[in-house]
Amino acid sequence: NQQMSPWVKAETEKLNQLLLRCRMQITRIQTFILPVLEFSNNLMKILILGLGGYLLLKQQLTLGEITAFLSYSVLLALPLMQLGRVATIYQRGMVSIESVQTILNAEIPQQDVAYLSKPEVNGLKGRTLSVRNLNFSYKGDDRLILNNISFDIPAGKKVGVLGSIGAGKTTLVNCLNHHLDVPAGSIFLGDKDVTTFARKDLRRYIKTVTQDPYLFSATVEENISFGSGDAETANAQVDEVLELSQLAGDVSRFEKGDQTLVGEKGIMLSGGQKQRLSIARALLKPSDLIIMDDVLSAVDYETERKILQGLFVRVKKQSALVVSHRVSALEYMDEIIVFKEGKLIAKGSHEALLKTCPYYYETWQLQQNETEAEAC
Ligand SMILES: Nc1ncnc2c1ncn2[C@@H]1O[C@H](COP(=O)(O)OP(=O)(O)OP(=O)(O)O)[C@@H](O)[C@H]1O
Ligand SMILES: [Mg+2]
Repeated sequence: NQQMSPWVKAETEKLNQLLLRCRMQITRIQTFILPVLEFSNNLMKILILGLGGYLLLKQQLTLGEITAFLSYSVLLALPLMQLGRVATIYQRGMVSIESVQTILNAEIPQQDVAYLSKPEVNGLKGRTLSVRNLNFSYKGDDRLILNNISFDIPAGKKVGVLGSIGAGKTTLVNCLNHHLDVPAGSIFLGDKDVTTFARKDLRRYIKTVTQDPYLFSATVEENISFGSGDAETANAQVDEVLELSQLAGDVSRFEKGDQTLVGEKGIMLSGGQKQRLSIARALLKPSDLIIMDDVLSAVDYETERKILQGLFVRVKKQSALVVSHRVSALEYMDEIIVFKEGKLIAKGSHEALLKTCPYYYETWQLQQNETEAEAC
């Protein structure tokens, strides 16, 4: 992939070469050992018959003794060969255990154990999330993906982010929820720099619906209520959030309704259904700030409008950051920030941007034509 950063490319290449070397070594050993085992098995029979025949002629062994010897050797050969296979399985198991241990023993960054006290966590409520002169580039890549970005998301405000493909929208989202390591002094929650306290505490405040949602191999209902703590209250609200995320119609057509299994990573669902299921999951227990990263791309304009209405009903008091490359998804936001190649080029309401930002106006007009075409 041409867009891969040089560091990721180099790391992948290094691991691929190591894998190739190990595979070749295994193949070499296997192609040598298997015929040798087969050969020695047959050689043993020849030896027993030859030596046994000789001793029979010299009357030192009886025919019965040779036959017994032969039968025992055949009986023993197979288990001995299988012992080798057991050794391989054991070694593979040990490697898997080591992999798990690496994850379990990974050192937690100092900052991630700096948990806030309960009053401090409660104090985060109703605070403004501010971005101050944020610059960001990926490891091993000099390109500035985010270039001097500043804006605020005050409590209860609905903010939209418009930008074309590859403009840096997902990168911004991953900086806001501190998924990526951001430079100190660039993102604040109230007066607290997000790099000074545990990510776990920040996640109580921010909930993100990603562009590429992860669904578990479970039922629709379980996928929605997953992680919401109190299972009973959660299940009672599943129907409501299915309705708000415009998925209720689809689910009612499934043979088993919300008890339908969605398969590994949601393989049984369409792209749009997966997106709406992840929206339903986020709406179940909305946090102070809900971020939706381009999650309306696979639905039509009419459904998009209804989902946004549902979102506004459910998160009236909370803030929302809706990322999209479609103006129609952002029209009703309190404020929209416009992105172009990692730079924030304009911000304001829909009406204001139509007048002041030519890029916004052109995008809007192009998409107006699309909407009309869809309506036809
Ligand atoms: N993990 C990564 N490592 C290196 N570069 C990356 C990584 N993720 C994204 N990029 C680069 O950062 C730039 C912005 O990507 P980003 O995913 O933020 O765009 P986007 O605006 O969300 O695009 P889209 O509308 O397609 O979702 C792209 O040029 C991409 O190649
Ligand atoms: Mg993106």
